Amino acid sequence: MPAVTDTLGRPLRDLRISVTDRCNFRCTYCMPKEVFGNDFVFMPREELLHYGEIGVIVRAAVSLGVKKVRITGGEPLLRKEIEWLVRGLRKIDGLEDIAMTTNGSALPLKAELLAEAGLDRITVSLDSLDDDTFRAMNDVEFPVARVLDGIDAALEAGLSPVKINMVVKRGVNDADVLPMVEHFLGKPVVLRFIEFMDVGTTNGWRLEDVVPAGELFQTIAAALPLEPADPNYVGEVARRFRVKGHPLELGFISSVTQPFCSDCHRARLSADGKLYTCLFASEGHDFKALIRAGADEDAVRERLIEIWQARGDRYSEIRSDDTQDLPKVEMSYIGG
Ligand code: GTP
Ligand code: 5AD
Ligand code: SF4
Ligand code: SF4
Repeated sequence: MPAVTDTLGRPLRDLRISVTDRCNFRCTYCMPKEVFGNDFVFMPREELLHYGEIGVIVRAAVSLGVKKVRITGGEPLLRKEIEWLVRGLRKIDGLEDIAMTTNGSALPLKAELLAEAGLDRITVSLDSLDDDTFRAMNDVEFPVARVLDGIDAALEAGLSPVKINMVVKRGVNDADVLPMVEHFLGKPVVLRFIEFMDVGTTNGWRLEDVVPAGELFQTIAAALPLEPADPNYVGEVARRFRVKGHPLELGFISSVTQPFCSDCHRARLSADGKLYTCLFASEGHDFKALIRAGADEDAVRERLIEIWQARGDRYSEIRSDDTQDLPKVEMSYIGG
């Protein structure tokens, strides 16, 4: 089967699968409490794709060139027996890399099970080491120490490289960048700084709150000797650096100030089975309806080809006052 390319010549390589729209955190930049409060209606369970249905889509996608799957949410570890999904995906020939993005809260319980099931590696979100700042950012009083326990559990289970995602907001946690670097200096982890993005419509995004990755780089480079690391693959979202003489690696994800759409080979599948060809898309393509109407793997593959060949998304490159007002789906729905 030849690899499929979109209207800008980009192949499909990476599928990000959201397995739930629920989360036990309420990070202010992702699921602000004012919107995702007690009365917020999440997806009913019967609307979620079953693991078998996800498997059909992944097999079809792998036959078209997908090499990497990332399991996300919401918080993916809230989905019942998520290790069974990992176990199923592990059996798919040609799928080289299975990763997961989590808030880490359940990792002390789950890391070993996930590794046994065949998960390759894990990314944990952690925005500050300062307990007060972190509790305010997750907005559910979750302590830093328990996320650090989760990171240790992932390292012990061999889910490496363990990556740590820090979303930086000006005046909120930008002072915590250097302490994070210093804390993880001696650990074999990858620490990534992510520019606060205008994803969704509920997080009150303002350009003034974005700390450009270039500025963060300067701050860290002024304190520690950095050397560039080669990209692992074309289209890698993070610019990577090593701290000389230390195992720690740093990554800068500049989706706002230096967009990376020209190499974007990512598709996203929401927990209720809609496929999105861009993080900022307003409409998805319904694969649950297709599968529940009886479509098999071949029919799913044909639909994927049709959708990908029509794709021309490059939202971050054309971000402007006009695109700001377009309807967009939430990151907790579409996957981080
Ligand atoms: P690996 O290289 O496989 O480890 O994954 P990754 O670099 O894609 O990292 P990850 O999936 O952890 O993504 C990190 C963050 O980058 C996400 O949480 C988003 O904030 C941002 N990001 C990832 N993919 C995209 C994308 O396609 N577009 C934009 N604008 N941002 C993205
Ligand atoms: N800007 C940047 N990254 C975000 N994430 C969620 N919301 C945003 C946002 N507004 C990312 C974080 C987190 C992952 C699950 O989603 O990187 O680690
Ligand atoms: Fe939950 Fe992750 Fe969103 Fe925070 S960023 S609310 S942990 S899904
Ligand atoms: Fe890809 Fe859309 Fe992100 Fe650009 S904005 S990198 S096209 S997901």
